Amino acid sequence: MFPVRLSFVLTLACFTFLADATTVKIDPIPKQLITSFGASGAWWPNDLIHFPVSVQKKLGELLFSEDGLYLSSYRYNMGGDGGHDEQQVVTNGSRVESFLLRNGTYDWNRDHAGVKFLKMAQSYGVPYITFFVNAAPSHIADNGAACGWNMTAAKAPSFAQYIKTVLAHWKSNGIGNLRYISPMNEPDNNRADCGQEGMAVSPELRPLVFKDIAAAMESSPVASEVDIIGDETSQITTQAFPEYPVWLPSSTKYLSNIAVHNYDYPTDQSLAEYRALVLNLTHGRPPPVKFTETCCSTNAGSGSTVFGAQYDPTMTNALIVARYVWQFLTIVQAQSFDWWTAVTNLPCSPTVNPACATAINETAGYNSGLVYIDGNYNKTRDYKLYLTKRAFMLKHFSYFHRPGSRRLDVPQDQLPSGVNAFATQSANSGEWSVLFMNNQTRSYDLQLELPTKQSRLERIVKTTPNDDWTEVNVLPHVNQGSVKFELPGQALWTMQFTSGKYY
Ligand SMILES: *[C@@H]1O[C@H](CO)[C@@H](O)[C@H](O)[C@H]1NC(C)=O
Ligand SMILES: *[C@@H]1O[C@H](CO)[C@@H](O)[C@H](O)[C@H]1NC(C)=O
Ligand SMILES: *[C@@H]1O[C@H](CO)[C@@H](O)[C@H](O)[C@H]1NC(C)=O
Ligand SMILES: *[C@@H]1O[C@H](CO)[C@@H](O)[C@H](O)[C@H]1NC(C)=O
Ligand SMILES: *[C@@H]1O[C@H](CO)[C@@H](O)[C@H](O)[C@H]1NC(C)=O
Ligand SMILES: *[C@@H]1O[C@H](CO)[C@@H](O)[C@H](O)[C@H]1NC(C)=O
Ligand SMILES: *[C@@H]1O[C@H](CO)[C@@H](O)[C@H](O)[C@H]1NC(C)=O
Repeated sequence: MFPVRLSFVLTLACFTFLADATTVKIDPIPKQLITSFGASGAWWPNDLIHFPVSVQKKLGELLFSEDGLYLSSYRYNMGGDGGHDEQQVVTNGSRVESFLLRNGTYDWNRDHAGVKFLKMAQSYGVPYITFFVNAAPSHIADNGAACGWNMTAAKAPSFAQYIKTVLAHWKSNGIGNLRYISPMNEPDNNRADCGQEGMAVSPELRPLVFKDIAAAMESSPVASEVDIIGDETSQITTQAFPEYPVWLPSSTKYLSNIAVHNYDYPTDQSLAEYRALVLNLTHGRPPPVKFTETCCSTNAGSGSTVFGAQYDPTMTNALIVARYVWQFLTIVQAQSFDWWTAVTNLPCSPTVNPACATAINETAGYNSGLVYIDGNYNKTRDYKLYLTKRAFMLKHFSYFHRPGSRRLDVPQDQLPSGVNAFATQSANSGEWSVLFMNNQTRSYDLQLELPTKQSRLERIVKTTPNDDWTEVNVLPHVNQGSVKFELPGQALWTMQFTSGKYY
């Protein structure tokens, strides 16, 4: 947002006066497979469809291209509004048209807005596309609405047929990278207020729903290439802990992955217990966990954690989210991370209040986007895209830790308090990267011991209060498989190495 480059002199100074550096060793034994980092397409396409085509293209470039965030995952929301519904979602912009009409016929031209950006993700070759469902369409729902009802055993087969039909259609009509179907979302909440689409699925019923979907998809060669993930539980301690024993053991045979959110913002200890529970319930062979949604944390690691109204585009929130990602990738050994939504409305109009996009707003807006827009665009004609530090935060993961890489452990007990690190080795190029996240305002002198003596430092990219994805021009020297450097305060700092085998 405000690129300010450190001067050459300052950069040099950083690397010349290092006294008692803290030593950090990377464990060379590869851990779990890492697949993807992404965000969802709910529900901003309903606004972006009214933006100039040039801005729509720019957004696609920003989210999906290598010059942008280079997301490796995109979650498309399969809407539930069939038209002529008994009740409609009341929040402006979050109503999503279903391909299945209220009278039971399919219309593949619906959800024009969502499909436009879905196709864009595919055209950039985003490797992992997920279709996720908040509610069965109104044609199937007992109350004729995409909110406020509970799935039943009687309706599971028609829901499964619907899912198979939609997947088979899009998988063979341009969305070849469609990899996962997530058939329920936060299924403890049926969204009776219709503030958004939602359908409850009781824990006892979840295995049957997964089973029926797996069976329906088996009958279609195209749909059967798509894997099922679930159950997108909202909270770890209050929901996953009591409910996993009910549904997980009998569901694992239908699922490629467990999908979970963290809206109780659990501690490291709770996540270690979560990991143990998952292992226990699956006899030590769990489907890998996908951390599929978080947003909207206003505070973490310092007092009560809250889901609430706040707009914080700064490093403070980017580092809070980065730590959640670190928690799931290391403690839970998750294989992927998806931020809730790529685009959100600002709390006010920058053309009216110039500080709106850049200042922290403690009372309005949500920390739910990577990129922001003026929600009042029809009036102000402001079609700009406003970036937050969270966008660059996600790029530190998505750009350097590509599908097929393997995590390398950076043991936490070596690091100063408030600092976390995440490393991976790439699938085939002999590259590996380590991301340091420093939530302290002070800097640290670190000495990194590399997993191979021949490692060569190729690149350092940093995001700090003053830098957005800035290349560090003068790289510190690697000496005998070890490198000393100064980790800046409030920073995301990625070092990329090659194994050095080709020189
Ligand atoms: C929703 O949209 C309607 C029609 O455009 C408008 O009158 C109403 O104020 C909007 N509600 C909110 C909460 O923005
Ligand atoms: C279903 O509804 C759509 C839209 O209202 C209409 O075009 C179509 O003809 C209807 N189909 C049947 C079989 O009633
Ligand atoms: C439906 O789901 C809601 C959760 O949103 C739950 O509170 C309610 O008891 C369920 N109703 C029935 C009839 O199972
Ligand atoms: C799961 O936990 C139970 C209760 O603590 C224990 O008896 C059982 O052996 C554990 N199973 C596995 C596979 O770890
Ligand atoms: C980082 O430090 C700030 C200030 O102490 C605190 O509010 C925030 O929750 C911390 N973030 C993390 C990820 O620990
Ligand atoms: C925060 O948002 C409110 C509501 O739109 C607005 O009135 C206020 O000016 C904003 N504050 C800042 C610091 O931008
Ligand atoms: C902007 O205008 C378009 C076209 O009139 C309308 O469909 C859309 O709902 C409006 N958006 C908002 C946020 O009011």
